[in-house]
Amino acid sequence: MAERIPFIAGNWKMNKSLSQAIDTVTKLKELIEDVQDVEVAVCPPFIALDAVVKVLIRSNIAVGAQNCFWEEKGAYTGEISPLMLADIGCRYCIVGHSERRKYFGETDANVNRKVRALYQFGLLPIICVGETLEQRQQGLTMNVVEEQIRGCLSGLPVNKVVDSVIAYEPVWAIGTGHTATPEQAQEVHSFIRNLLAELYGEENAQKIRIQYGGSVTPENIKGLMAMPDIDGALVGGASLEPEKFARIVKFKQ
Ligand code: 13P
Repeated sequence: MAERIPFIAGNWKMNKSLSQAIDTVTKLKELIEDVQDVEVAVCPPFIALDAVVKVLIRSNIAVGAQNCFWEEKGAYTGEISPLMLADIGCRYCIVGHSERRKYFGETDANVNRKVRALYQFGLLPIICVGETLEQRQQGLTMNVVEEQIRGCLSGLPVNKVVDSVIAYEPVWAIGTGHTATPEQAQEVHSFIRNLLAELYGEENAQKIRIQYGGSVTPENIKGLMAMPDIDGALVGGASLEPEKFARIVKFKQ
């Protein structure tokens, strides 16, 4: 089985002023400077990205955006292009987050266009998928996740797909304190891995990292990471506090 390096990313969502962002990553950098066997990223709001990249230069923490548009430039008022993100030193970009699907009409087709654009400019997507509580209760979890994965990755060459990160974030677990149990999460992660194997072959599927997201804390990260197909976490609320996020990153210690 391929060795997948754990990847823990913090999604700050619409939180922190510029000075708070700088303060947070300055502290985080010190707290996790000894971490080598886990990849770490923070995803602050757009206005803090440039400053955060500068604080984190030559550190073990990468920077990601929370969204982007798919065009390189032009008359798209209010949008940010992958080219702009690449230019300031971003490495990742979250796409398809359930909050963007819910409040801003993000669709799998849009995510697919964004993923293609990100690759064009050398950025790596963190592609979010996950079912709502209603969908889970109706027994539709796997159908929903399968449709999202197929739609978001549609037509992408396999050499790009292997570098993509998938984040399984059940909507009912986001910001609710109701984390999926490690077994519940593993069931869906394993389903996703099998789907990726069907689409891209077993060897490639083994290389793709699948993060879990939804009420991840320093207390529950160990149990989640013990599952064979959980390769990291996309952390919301607990990533806002450097001490908490550092404890999540150091889940092995
Ligand atoms: P919480 O960790 O706050 O539940 O948020 C998860 C999430 O949406 C990360 O993208």
